[in-house]
Amino acid sequence: MPPAFADHEPEKAQCPQKRQTLKAPGDFLSLVNPLPVTAKRIAKGESIYQTQSAPLQCRHCHGEKGNGVGHMGLEANPPARNFTCSATMETISDGQMFWVIRNGVPGTAMPAYPDLADWQIWVLIHYIRTSQ
Ligand code: HEC
Repeated sequence: MPPAFADHEPEKAQCPQKRQTLKAPGDFLSLVNPLPVTAKRIAKGESIYQTQSAPLQCRHCHGEKGNGVGHMGLEANPPARNFTCSATMETISDGQMFWVIRNGVPGTAMPAYPDLADWQIWVLIHYIRTSQ
């Protein structure tokens, strides 16, 4: 028996992924991560992603390795984004990600995280970009 809350098999990750996500408003879409990327920031992003984000940690849907096969993410409709898929991720700007993380995507499983501070979202984005 696999442990409870274990990720699905990695080969189930789809790439490229069909993406119909609501577009962030123009002023967000063009934003570039303002925090220089450092090992420390990536590590902070990782701990928010894996254990700290509330009410539900990102890994439950996007998977421990960011490949979208978390136990709640693969069967969601649409499924959780596969951050390891460069073909899809290269089309998504930093500002688009920021907007989605703060506001969620209504009508999908992607929740809003209004309690995360701006800097927490930016370090999450640094961490997510390391999955590719
Ligand atoms: C309950 C499941 C769930 C959780 C928890 C979750 N997500 Fe998502 N996420 C989704 C789904 C489903 C989508 C795809 C939405 C769509 O296709 O419109 C998504 C999409 C995204 C996207 C892609 C946005 C785009 O424009 O394509 C990003 C970035 C993202 N999530 C980041 C996060 C981060 C960071 C966390 C934790 C703070 C998180 N998610 C937690 C389900 C989840």
